[in-house]
Amino acid sequence: MQSQKNKDKILIVDFGSQVTKLIARRIRELGVYSEIITPKKINKLRDYNDIKGIIFSGGPSTVTATKFETVPKEIFKKKIPILGICYGLQLIAKILGGKIKPSKKRREFGRAYLFKKKNSPLTNKYLEIRKAVWMSHEDAVVKLPKNFKTVASTKDSKLTIIENTQDKIYGVQFHPEVTHTDNGKQIFKNFLFLICKIRKKWNIPSQQNKLIDEIKNKVKNDKVICALSGGVDSSVVALLVNKAIKKNLICIMVDTGLMRKNEFKYTYRLFKNKYKLNVKLIDASKIFLKRLKNISNPEKKRKIIGNLFIKVFEKESKKNKKIKFLAQGTLYPDIIESKSSSGSKTSKIKSHHNVGGLPKKMNLQLIEPLKEFFKDEVRILGKSLGLVDSINYKHPFPGPGLGIRIIGDITQERIKILQEADNIYIKELIKKKLYKRIWQAYAALLPIKTVGVMGDLRTYENICLLRAVVSEDGMTADYFNFPKFFLDNISNKIINNVKGINRVVYDITSKPPSTIELE
Ligand code: XMP
Repeated sequence: MQSQKNKDKILIVDFGSQVTKLIARRIRELGVYSEIITPKKINKLRDYNDIKGIIFSGGPSTVTATKFETVPKEIFKKKIPILGICYGLQLIAKILGGKIKPSKKRREFGRAYLFKKKNSPLTNKYLEIRKAVWMSHEDAVVKLPKNFKTVASTKDSKLTIIENTQDKIYGVQFHPEVTHTDNGKQIFKNFLFLICKIRKKWNIPSQQNKLIDEIKNKVKNDKVICALSGGVDSSVVALLVNKAIKKNLICIMVDTGLMRKNEFKYTYRLFKNKYKLNVKLIDASKIFLKRLKNISNPEKKRKIIGNLFIKVFEKESKKNKKIKFLAQGTLYPDIIESKSSSGSKTSKIKSHHNVGGLPKKMNLQLIEPLKEFFKDEVRILGKSLGLVDSINYKHPFPGPGLGIRIIGDITQERIKILQEADNIYIKELIKKKLYKRIWQAYAALLPIKTVGVMGDLRTYENICLLRAVVSEDGMTADYFNFPKFFLDNISNKIINNVKGINRVVYDITSKPPSTIELE
C-alpha cells in the first residue's frame, strides 16, 4: 500500500491472526485511518510522524519458544501509545521483562467473563457491567513487567487486561475486534480517542475527490481499460475512473454466457445509457461453452474460464495502442491476503482472484483506486457516486460465474435451467426483504437426477440446490436460517416454473467445513 503522507493513522502490526483485518475495520468504522504492516516492516520503519498509536495483533507464535515473531524494543521508547491483543499482550510482557507460561490449566478458548480490578482509560464506560469476551490463547502472562497493573481478570486468567499508564502501554488477552466480544468497539474507542488522542478524520465520501485527482494525475492523456462485470467493485472503479478521465476510459464487458439471467444486458444498458460510459460488449459465450464441453473437474473449469477470459480481454486491449493502464477493483483484504503469503504468517485460506492475474501478462500499469477499502466501504463510495442500489448492494458473484454452480457438465440447456431457478430465488429474496440480510445467495444444479411425480406422471429430472449464507467477509459463513414458509414457497415456485427441475434442496452447511461456492 502506498504511504499515507500527512495522514494521522494507527499502525497495526500483524503477527498472523486470522482476524487482524477486523482490527483495521473496527478502527476505520470509528472514523480513523489504519494500516496493517508486517513485523518485518516495522523494523525498517524510519518515519513515525503520522503514527498516533500502534496495535500488536494476535498470532499463532508463542513467546515461550526460542524463536518468535517480535518487534524492536526501541518501539516502546517512541512515546507512541501501544495496545497488544492476545499474542500482542504476551509480546509486550515478554519484551518488557514479564513472565509468560504455556499452560493447559490457564488456556481459554471461547467465551470468558471479565472481573474488574481497577479503573483504566482503556476500559472507560466498558466494565460497568460484566462483559463476555472472546478468548483464544494457550499461553498466559503470569508475572507483569515493571510499572504494569492489572485492570481486569477472568476466572482462568488473572492478567487479562493490563496497563502501564505512564508509558501508555496496554494489553488485552481477549479479542475485542470480534463480534463475540461484548461491545469490543468501546475498547478501541478508548484507545483511539482517550489514549492516542487521535482525531476522527477518515470517512469514505471525503476520499472521493482525492481518488479522482490521483487517477487524473497518473493517467494524464493516456487511455485506461477496465473489465466491467457488473459487480460492485468493478462498477465503482468504472464510475470513479470515468469521473476522472471520461472518454479515455474503455470498459470491456466479456459475455461468458455464465452470468445470471438478464444480468449482462442490464449492466451494459445501465452503464451505457445512464452513466454514459464508453462500454464495449464482447460476446464470447460460444467459445466458453465449447471449451467447457464435457469438463466436470472444478479446477479444470476454473482454469479454462480464467484463461479464456484473459485471452479475450487481452485481444481487445491490444486493439488500441494508447491503452497504458488497467483499472481493477482490488480491495484492501485482497492486498493483505496476497501480502500475507510473503510477509506475515496469516494462513492463506483461499487465493484471491483479482490480484496478479491480468496485469503481468499484459504489461499495463495498474490503477487500483479501491485498494485501501473494505467491501462495505466500497458500497458507501458507490452510494456517493450515485451507483444504483441493485448493483451497489449486489451479493458477491464469483469470476467463473455459473460455471462453478453447475456441478458436472455445463451445457446450454443446464445453464438455462439454472438461470431460471436462480432468477426466481433471487427475486423472491428481494420481494420478501431478505436479500440485504444475506451475504450471498444462489441456486446451483447438482449432477444427478432423481425421480418425482407431477400430475400422474413420473418425472426424472434435476436437483436444484439453494444456498444462502451470512458472513462478514466471505472467509467464514453460516447458513441463513429461513422461515419455513419461505422454503416451502420457493420450492413450489421453482418446480412449478422451471421445466427440468423436480426437487429443491437447501444447503445447511457453514464455512468451514464447507465453502460458500460448491466448487
Ligand atoms: P468460497 O467458495 O471459497 O468463496 O467459500 C468465498 C467467496 O469468494 C467468492 N469466490 C470467487 N470470487 N472468483 C471470484 O471473484 C472466483 O473464482 C471465486 N471463487 C469463489 C465466493 O463467491 C465467495 O463470495
